[in-house]
Amino acid sequence: MVETATKKKVGGLAGIVAGDSAICVCGAEDQSLTYRGYGIEDLATHASFEEVAWLLLRGELPTSHQLTQYRARLKTLRVLPDPLKRVLELIPRTAHMMDVLRTGCSFLGNIEAHQERDPFVSSDRLLASFGSMLLYWHLFHKKGQAPNMDSAQDTVAGYFLEILHGKAPDDLARRALDVSLILYAEHEFNASTFTARTITSTLADYYSAVTGAIGALSGPLHGGANEKALELIQRFPNREAAEKGVLAALANKELIMGFGHRVYTTKDPRSPINKVWAERLAKATNDKVVLPVAECIEQVMWREKKLFPNADFYSAALYHFLRIPTPMFTPLFVIARISGWSAHIQEQREHNKLIRPVSRYIGPDRRPWIPIERR
Ligand code: COA
Repeated sequence: MVETATKKKVGGLAGIVAGDSAICVCGAEDQSLTYRGYGIEDLATHASFEEVAWLLLRGELPTSHQLTQYRARLKTLRVLPDPLKRVLELIPRTAHMMDVLRTGCSFLGNIEAHQERDPFVSSDRLLASFGSMLLYWHLFHKKGQAPNMDSAQDTVAGYFLEILHGKAPDDLARRALDVSLILYAEHEFNASTFTARTITSTLADYYSAVTGAIGALSGPLHGGANEKALELIQRFPNREAAEKGVLAALANKELIMGFGHRVYTTKDPRSPINKVWAERLAKATNDKVVLPVAECIEQVMWREKKLFPNADFYSAALYHFLRIPTPMFTPLFVIARISGWSAHIQEQREHNKLIRPVSRYIGPDRRPWIPIERR
């Protein structure tokens, strides 16, 4: 006898332990987050994104010498091969930027798959080059010719801002982006990471796993929420309009993007850190609208629904203050999360077991075949 749909629905693998991992704890009890045992607050205060990427991928913090060498290596790896540039030039300017990265990653897999034998080569390559892929495509279409991608910046954040804006960022801007990349770097068995692990578990190649993960991250319930969050904030000219608009949206049973979380129940530990950096940037840019509206939305959501901002909400404001175009928000998540994905792909490979769960069948009981003329 099959189980029927009248039974309580199971879905989304909520609360299911789907495997062992030594990379990250997304703590439901104390609303905390650690990477390889280090608290996110310490990492966001003391570390750089490159240090965190090394930690995630190699398991321990780098020495000063290792970090210098690593940054130099990433600097060389951010230079795009010519065939990839030609492919990026062919992607229409109207494409969604996540699709640009998905194609760029997949194409790189065609021309550099042979490097896969060293587990760090492909991961360092993508970590270094996702930013250049996105900006090359963006600037090529904006300027109508191949852009100059040269920069002396030796950090992922500094390079991104300098190429995007055509001038070196100040320390505040560079560090704000750096911190947001740290906060986005890793988050346990989220949908895109689990996608990457599932693909890896079939013994498929690294680029296939990352390409699939980019697809999963692009959805508005996952990475795409940061773009939607800014669109929401920008709908309102002041706090009063925000209060009214959010109440109306809630009454209409709309989802408010950038709020709520599958694991955290009262606080996303990344959000207060993003908020502090958004506040610093708001002050520096003399903002009188975006941050007050965002804070008002936060207050209304807590008062009305006991829902709190997740990592996407204040990172959206932070990116806005850095004058980053909104369609680049989710790609920036990729630029950061490639470190976590790669660590998980490696871990999956080291202890591989094909990921293949079972479903609970709720369809019809077994029945006799009906010939076509009698249907
Ligand atoms: N706005 C309004 N209501 C929300 C909400 C939001 N952002 N997030 C959750 N809720 C409500 C749901 O409507 C549901 O209400 P109900 O019980 O009356 O039906 C309840 O809270 C539980 O939500 P549910 O969707 O079952 O939780 P989940 O664990 O499946 O979803 C998210 C988690 C993150 C997908 C969900 O909170 C969401 O869609 N948030 C907006 C998108 C987002 O910011 N994503 C980025 C995540 S880091």
